[in-house]
Amino acid sequence: MEKVSGLIVGFMLLSQLEVGISYKLICYFTNWAQHRPGIGKFMPENIPPCLCTHLIYAFAAIDSHHKIVTKEKNDEALYASFNSLKKKNPTLKTLLAVGGFNPQRFSTTVASKKTRAAFIFSAIKFVRKYDFDGLDLVWDHPGSRGSPFDNKKRYTVLLKELRQTLQSESKRSKKPRLLLAAALPASKAKIDAGFEVKKVGQYLDSIHVMTYDFHGAWNSFTGRNNPLFHAIPEQRESTFFNMEFAAKYWRDNGLPAEKIIIGFPTYGRTFMLKSSSNNSGGAPTVGPGPAGTYTRDPGYWAYYEICDFLKNSETQMFPAEIVPLASKGKVWLGYDDMNSFETKAAENQTQTTVIE
Ligand SMILES: *[C@@H]1O[C@H](CO)[C@@H](O)[C@H](O)[C@H]1NC(C)=O
Repeated sequence: MEKVSGLIVGFMLLSQLEVGISYKLICYFTNWAQHRPGIGKFMPENIPPCLCTHLIYAFAAIDSHHKIVTKEKNDEALYASFNSLKKKNPTLKTLLAVGGFNPQRFSTTVASKKTRAAFIFSAIKFVRKYDFDGLDLVWDHPGSRGSPFDNKKRYTVLLKELRQTLQSESKRSKKPRLLLAAALPASKAKIDAGFEVKKVGQYLDSIHVMTYDFHGAWNSFTGRNNPLFHAIPEQRESTFFNMEFAAKYWRDNGLPAEKIIIGFPTYGRTFMLKSSSNNSGGAPTVGPGPAGTYTRDPGYWAYYEICDFLKNSETQMFPAEIVPLASKGKVWLGYDDMNSFETKAAENQTQTTVIE
């Protein structure tokens, strides 16, 4: 399983359509996982080709001329092996994610019709050239955190122009239309500031709600990475920070339920407790837990690093409130395992069915 865990996030949609069950499992591959040492190194050829219905390659960037560009030296070679997975699974769809860079760049790119067009034309050409089936925009806070207020409207305009251009390109090239997806925030404040929800839903084929990173070492108290419901200890400070709230908030604001894909992180977030005697949810913390051997990023552990931590007999497991928790000494961990994924997927399915 450790190779599978190189996919950082899975997104899931289970919905009842007229032709039985339609199932989408959308997985992200990160182009920086290749730099991890030893067995942590993860390449496109390590992805099981039939595990996911859609694979997304993260990330490509935008240059100062608003053109889409690679980020890693060997991206072109990795694109080729990534997209050759479709030979082993002919129904697999692949998308290229644009993001993960200074969000200031998005602001300048959406600023005018001319700059938007530069991005749109370069993106379509690029995605076709490397044999992806679509594009995934990862900009989670237009209109807030230093992004001008007007970007809320400009984001919609970008999607509208992108969608129209994808349609005309499909007619002209006589190829199936490229897919258009976006990763969208789970935070109420970011949603309110950044997205004209109904319109956004109209232009996108699927919407990936980033229901993770709800709590992490940036907080001064312990909390879960991906809680399903709001839990008691963290509740005071983060009422809206849970999957249920995020999914319902997008839906109630007009996002079509059948397009909403919910995020499932295959990693956990760690904290350093202020005192090992208080390891409850909401307990005071002083910073991130130690970096993992392979991911080498304080406060973050891949699932295979979590398994190593849990193997240690001194680790204390807490009664799982859907999302499991563990601690050892001053290190505190909130994560997901197969049980929590199953519970969340079942809940997601129930909700989708109820909506329809
Ligand atoms: C742990 O910390 C929380 C938050 O400060 C506090 O409410 C709780 O009473 C503490 N529990 C213990 C056992 O000290």
